[in-house]
Amino acid sequence: MSITKAAVINALSYVDDPDLGKDLVTLNMVDNIEIDGNKVRFRLILTTPACPMKEQIKNACITAIRHFISKEAQVEIDLTSRVTTLRQDGNSILPGVKNIIAVASGKGGVGKSTVAVNLAIGLAKTGASVGLIDADIYGPSVPVMLNLRGRRPHVIQVNGHNKIEPIEQYGIKTLSIGFLAEEKQAIVWRGPMVSSALRQFITDADWGALDYLIIDLPPGTGDVHLTLAQTVPITAAIVVTTPQEVAKADVVRAIAMFQLPQINVPVLGIVENMSYFTPPELPDKKYYLFGQGGGRILADEFDVPLLGELPIVETIRSGGDNGTPVVLNNNSPAAEAFMQLAQTIARNIAIRNAETAV
Ligand SMILES: Nc1ncnc2c1ncn2[C@@H]1O[C@H](COP(=O)(O)OP(=O)(O)O)[C@@H](O)[C@H]1O
Ligand SMILES: [Mg+2]
Repeated sequence: MSITKAAVINALSYVDDPDLGKDLVTLNMVDNIEIDGNKVRFRLILTTPACPMKEQIKNACITAIRHFISKEAQVEIDLTSRVTTLRQDGNSILPGVKNIIAVASGKGGVGKSTVAVNLAIGLAKTGASVGLIDADIYGPSVPVMLNLRGRRPHVIQVNGHNKIEPIEQYGIKTLSIGFLAEEKQAIVWRGPMVSSALRQFITDADWGALDYLIIDLPPGTGDVHLTLAQTVPITAAIVVTTPQEVAKADVVRAIAMFQLPQINVPVLGIVENMSYFTPPELPDKKYYLFGQGGGRILADEFDVPLLGELPIVETIRSGGDNGTPVVLNNNSPAAEAFMQLAQTIARNIAIRNAETAV
């Protein structure tokens, strides 16, 4: 059978996106089909550059074309992506931002900022455009974790309006409460000052077009959360906990907060941090120092996914302290764990967007 565009479209209509449960043609994921003799070339538009199923989908396309059209077909696929969003055009708030992901926790010290920072850079490493707002008034961590201590954002003119320009570092754009006040001083700010600074980060900053905007929330459940949830159309929240904390009231309250009618933000899932320890000399061993399976039980109880279990690793701590997040170290197991988390989160956002859109 000779290869035609119609035959290619037909063949690809038998390939489903494994996450979205519909075929690639229905999902509008195929375009630019070119045929030259036995050669077939087309563009496959994924729902996120962080798609962990890339290779699987690509192989399924090749198999389908060879099966339905010709065993001789030489298939070349250009993988690109267009991150999906539930937001409509013409938003006045964060108009170019497709997905806003809040990172929350029941209490401080569980690794919320570590997760937020490495998640943001991990998503950027896959090719996504990413921003990070450090909204943690009690302990802004971004200036230290991203090696930006003492930096102050500039104010620029955009279409005749003054806008705060986010600072770029490691491939992401960022603003932190810590850029406006010394870290110690920030803590004594009054509530209204915090709220107005945060509001400015959201309404008066030049974020431009972003696939994902990550917000590192303060720990717990307070006024800042309420204000933020009422100002910002948060796509989804992730809740970070450690194995010691999973059963405690704080984390349960944090999850429940998002489900309150006046907040009503979907919880994308739970991230268990410091889940296990792997000694560098025994890379295949996992020691669950604080017990195993707590995150899973919590996730099941609230009927949300467990998005990841992250190891305790010295380089995760030192990377945070010296301003070079561990996810930047290619090929380290800790970086791999964060890259996997970034992919899982991007994938779950894409699934949510697809399910909610219909
Ligand atoms: N998986 C981990 N392994 C080792 N150290 C970690 C890990 N996660 C966080 N830490 C360290 O624990 C401390 C608290 O983490 P941080 O992200 O600041 O917590 P939070 O934002 O919840 O207060 C930091 O020193 C950080 O480097
Ligand atoms: Mg923090």
